[in-house]
Amino acid sequence: MMRVVLRRGVVPVGGIRGFLVAVLPCWVLLLLVIAVGGAEAQTAQLTIDTTQIVSPVSPTLYGLMTEEINHSYDGGLYPELIQNRAFHDTWEGVSPWDLVRRGNAEVSKAVDTTTGPSAALAHSLKLTVVSASKGNEAGLTNPGYWGFEAGPGTTYAGSLYARVEDASVGPITVQMISNRTGAVLAQAAVELKAGPWARYEYALKPGAKVAAMQASADNHVELTVAHAGTVWLQLVSLMRPSYHDRSNGLRRDLMERMAAMHPHFLRLPGGNYLEGNSIADWYDWKKTIGPLVDRPGHNSPWFYWSTDGLGLLEFLEWCEDLKVEPVLAVYTGYSLNGSHVATGKDMEPYVQSALDEVEYVTGDATTRWGAERARDGHPAPFPLHYIEVGNEDYLDRSGSYPARYAQFAEALHKRYPQYKLIATDGNSEYTTRVNPDVSDEHYYKSPQDMMDLVHHYDTVSRRGPKIFVGEWATRSGSPTPNFGDALGDAAWMTGLERNSDLIVMAAYAPLLVNVSPGGMEWPTDLIGFDAANTYASPSYWAQVLFAGHLGDGTAKSSLAGENKRFFYSATVNSAEKVLHLKLVNAGSVAQPLALSLTGIHGMRKAHLTSMHGASYQATNTMAEPDAIHPVESSASVTDGVWMHTTPALTIEVLDIPLR
Ligand code: AHR
Repeated sequence: MMRVVLRRGVVPVGGIRGFLVAVLPCWVLLLLVIAVGGAEAQTAQLTIDTTQIVSPVSPTLYGLMTEEINHSYDGGLYPELIQNRAFHDTWEGVSPWDLVRRGNAEVSKAVDTTTGPSAALAHSLKLTVVSASKGNEAGLTNPGYWGFEAGPGTTYAGSLYARVEDASVGPITVQMISNRTGAVLAQAAVELKAGPWARYEYALKPGAKVAAMQASADNHVELTVAHAGTVWLQLVSLMRPSYHDRSNGLRRDLMERMAAMHPHFLRLPGGNYLEGNSIADWYDWKKTIGPLVDRPGHNSPWFYWSTDGLGLLEFLEWCEDLKVEPVLAVYTGYSLNGSHVATGKDMEPYVQSALDEVEYVTGDATTRWGAERARDGHPAPFPLHYIEVGNEDYLDRSGSYPARYAQFAEALHKRYPQYKLIATDGNSEYTTRVNPDVSDEHYYKSPQDMMDLVHHYDTVSRRGPKIFVGEWATRSGSPTPNFGDALGDAAWMTGLERNSDLIVMAAYAPLLVNVSPGGMEWPTDLIGFDAANTYASPSYWAQVLFAGHLGDGTAKSSLAGENKRFFYSATVNSAEKVLHLKLVNAGSVAQPLALSLTGIHGMRKAHLTSMHGASYQATNTMAEPDAIHPVESSASVTDGVWMHTTPALTIEVLDIPLR
């Protein structure tokens, strides 16, 4: 009924759309617009000449972008389990630490700004135990980042800095305790020595039986003593095992998710995280390297303190572990409150910092900062090709970017002529005013707007800089994208691939979200996780499908008679001699397709991967992590002909052998 009333040409589309926008939620609108555009399920003709490559596909097209947002690092990828391990003090106190007072124990806590183990951590938490005894212990409790994973048989590596004048207050007993039952899942004792600040190690290993019975992250940690006395504490840490067992490495399950995305680069360290809320909050990378006790942490723009446990070296080792290259963004004197550093003398320290940072990444051990990196445990330099000059400088309304860019570009080019520079003052509305090698453009769009933009780059001039789509996402689902978003993403990626002679790199953003209540700042993030588990959104799987079947050239092709919201990409992997055909049916009716391939003879067994959602809103969640996922099957292509119907709301990748 609805389709008849709304048939194109019968009703003025603008008028109907205006009415619908005013009265109907946007997903209903999208459904109706799709119906207007694509009610007829006629057979589309897709012709591909696999012998003719019309444009190259960048080998680095797909990569990763994230930053300290949504507890991506602290409470996420950085495997520290203790929240606020360095007792950062705010108006709420040293949240979320609380006192333990068992039985008749008496104890108080206070931040002591007169003593700490290092200049960076010059304060500590002073625990004054007035009375405590066995069974009446006193101490501190920490809830972790919304719980503590207690893996059966897993060893969690603990450490802490403590100072005591009289060791008889100890030992400190560290326990992981079930919130539900009060059962002690793991326990260790830390013997104290009287004297100056000292670092102590301990380990917690939940027993296989106990942990299996308490199979949840609904646990907390307590540090208690059974004697009166005073103890000062700092950097109380408990780390889960890391990916590749790196010291101070990253959380395994999240790294595995990223590895499966076939990424080629990691843009680091952000995003807004690079800029900080104000100039004082800039990403001062030198404060994020070296021993943890020498890292003061800093105020991140996403409303919580960053420990910088995941600092510059950890970013680089993250790249190394995933076999990807860093795209290094350097701070260029502009922060989120709109303030900027004047060019010239005032800017020189920031320029010097950028030069030093590139040396830390790439210099050998004979250089000042290469030697520092070697001392930090990584003698070998890291590979680098791109340096990004700032972040989203199109938002700098003062017009200062061209002069700031010029000062940085001159210094970087002089010292490092081999690296390509990326400017950040362009976006989809206007082009960069400087003259970079690459311009970084960002897109955060609704499903409908994303699909409307699929052909945007088809007509962008090839005479300007190359393009880095450094942040993009189709956004409607929360905390992670729904299937409608995945369709928008897949449609958009067909445009990225077709225009990859121009677009050298692209990254979905943000990548990670801690889905525990209070963990998220930015709705619509690719991978959800909590203290114990992760899950992949439909958009994640779309990324895996596209990046895993990239190809190196776009084949000559044409499509006719398709429904609205039907998209495709046809790329050839010349080394493996495979055609990767991606089909995206974002419409609500099936799309019959007659595929005709030049350059293919006889019968070819093709591999089909398909992902379907029951509705635009259908999604994956922590409770139902696999509701939507790719399904594998095979198909036969005979003498270059394939008659096929792509179901509604479906993303497909067909790999056809060319020999
Ligand atoms: O990805 C989230 C934020 O979006 C980034 O920090 C910023 O660059 C953009 O505005």
